[in-house]
Order: sequence, then C-alpha cells, then structure tokens
Amino acid sequence: MQTKHPATRLGAMLAQYARTLGALPRARTRSLRQAARHFLVSLSVLGELKASGRRRKLLRRASARLVRRARRTFRKRRTRLRRKLRRRTRVAIRGARRRRARFDLGRKRLAKVYRRRGPGQARDLLRLRRVGVLESLHRFSAAQPAAALRPDYSDLWFLYDIVRDRRPSTLLEFGSGCSTPVIAAAVRANGSGHLWTLDGDESWSHATRAALPLELRDLVTIVHAPIREDDRDVRGWSHENVPELEPDFIYLDSPALTPKRQVAFDPLDLEERFSPGFVMVVDGRQRNAEYLRERLQRLYRVTRMPGRHLFELLD
Ligand SMILES: C[S@@+](CC[C@H](N)C(=O)[O-])C[C@H]1O[C@@H](n2cnc3c(N)ncnc32)[C@H](O)[C@@H]1O
Repeated sequence: MQTKHPATRLGAMLAQYARTLGALPRARTRSLRQAARHFLVSLSVLGELKASGRRRKLLRRASARLVRRARRTFRKRRTRLRRKLRRRTRVAIRGARRRRARFDLGRKRLAKVYRRRGPGQARDLLRLRRVGVLESLHRFSAAQPAAALRPDYSDLWFLYDIVRDRRPSTLLEFGSGCSTPVIAAAVRANGSGHLWTLDGDESWSHATRAALPLELRDLVTIVHAPIREDDRDVRGWSHENVPELEPDFIYLDSPALTPKRQVAFDPLDLEERFSPGFVMVVDGRQRNAEYLRERLQRLYRVTRMPGRHLFELLD
C-alpha cells in the first residue's frame, strides 16, 4: 500500500472538512496549500453566512418590532382620536339639546302663559325676553321657595319700562320678590342707580338675597323692615327700619293688606324727602292709592291704570 505524503494526507483531511462544513459543493484539492485555502475560505464564507443570517434574523426581528410598535402607536392614536371625536360630538349634541330645550321651554312657557293668562301677559313676557331680563327672572324664580306666587309679567314689564324711561338714581321698593331682579336689571341697563328693597318678612328677605343673580347683587340692598300696625285717621301699617334716603322712585307693593287694614302709610312719612322727578308706582291696593292721593301734600299727577296707580311729582 502506497503511503501518502503527510502533507497530502493533511490536504485530503482539510478538503474533507471543507466539504462537511458545506460551504463549498466540492473541495477540489490538489495540494496541501490548495486544501488549506479551501478550508479557510469555507470557514470564512460559512462564518460570513452565519453572521449575515443572524444579522438578517436580528434585522427581521427588529423590523417586526418596529412594525408592531408603529401599529400599536397607530392604534393608540386612532383610539385617542376616536374618543376625542366622540367626546366632542357628545358635547356638541348636549349643547344643541340644551339650546333646543331652552328654546322649547321659552316657546312652551309662552304658549302656556298665552293660553292661561291671556295675550297681554304673553306680550309682556316677550318684551321682557327681548330686553334680556327673562333669564335673570327665571333664575330668580327657580331659586325661590316652592310656595312662591308666579310673577305677573305685565307688572314687571311696566316696572322695567318706567325705570328705563325715568332713570331714577335712588329706588325704594316695599316688598321684595320677582320685581326686585327686574328693577335691578333696569338699573343695570341704565348704568347708574341703586335699589333698596324692604321686606317685613325676614325669611323672604333672605330668600330674595339668596335668589338674586350674581350680576345684580351690587345694585341691590335688601333690608329687613318689620311691619307694625299703625292707627292714624284710619287703621293701617308702617314699616320699621326704613333707610334715610331721598328716593326718586318708590314701588309700593307691601305689606299684604287685610280687610280691616287697607293702607300702608310709609310714603306719607317719606314725602318731604322725595327728590325732583320723583315717581311712585302703587301696585293694586286701590284704597291705599286713593288714601295717599288725598293725604300727600305736594303736587302730583296721579294716573290710574289697570292694576296700578302712577304718582308723578310735579313741583
Ligand atoms: C306682594 S309680595 C311682593 C312681591 C314683589 N314686589 C313682586 O312684585 O314680585 C309682598 C310680600 O310677599 C312676600 N313675597 C315675595 N315674593 C313672593 C312670592 N313670589 N310669593 C309669595 N310671597 C312673596 C314678601 O315678603 C313680600 O314682601
């Protein structure tokens, strides 16, 4: 048996290795140097392939991660946007509903007032709405005790209109209630003036204070003025704790009269202090108005209207 040169044997061995490593289809070796070269080449190619495979795998994984992250971000953004859109839509719908409800409420109330209380009240309700007083009035009414009487829109419109027309600066009201925010709103629209409103019933004066809309509070002073029986030439009533003012406007709507006591004397006690341009509105209380007309000392034009008397100082 022919023994091969050790170098040849080594070459054959290395070629065998190169083949088993699989990098080359067939390692053709003629010499040891060639076999060694093939072996080294196979190793490096194999290493290269392995390395690039790993790199590719890593790259694939990394890009999959990136894609996943991008998808997640997209989904998150999409959810956030959808939520935002839904929230905005809900808010817009709620606003529209509220506006429509307010509008319906206005229309319903108007129709109800027209049906139950006649066209005059409905017309004055519309007038109050047109000058922007209705919202304050409704807020005031809503905050009043449940037992409160409903407002008389014609009286309220008359008060608003006359205060806007005569522009008094010192206003005095006997009997607080729905008239208070309406007179105060007229004072506010005038740009100057202050309303003192007296109430004999402490709980009502508290109720008026609590219900008065914020924007009107600075324009109104609410005074608790207890009512006492007062017997002069006729039996009547007077308020205590009346502030020392020089009024140019009085609204007389208190106290509640009884069959035996039909007169409030307060305007007689204040007469000396009436300032030029003075006007007084006496609500209902026919006997009281006639009594005052007879007893007041200064010169007045007295106009009798449905449901009220108007006194205008002429001197
Ligand atoms: C004729 S009310 C005065 C109402 C107010 N001047 C007006 O025109 O709305 C006389 C007294 O009744 C009480 N009062 C006020 N508002 C009321 C209401 N809505 N219902 C029942 N009583 C009221 C108060 O004590 C007030 O002094």
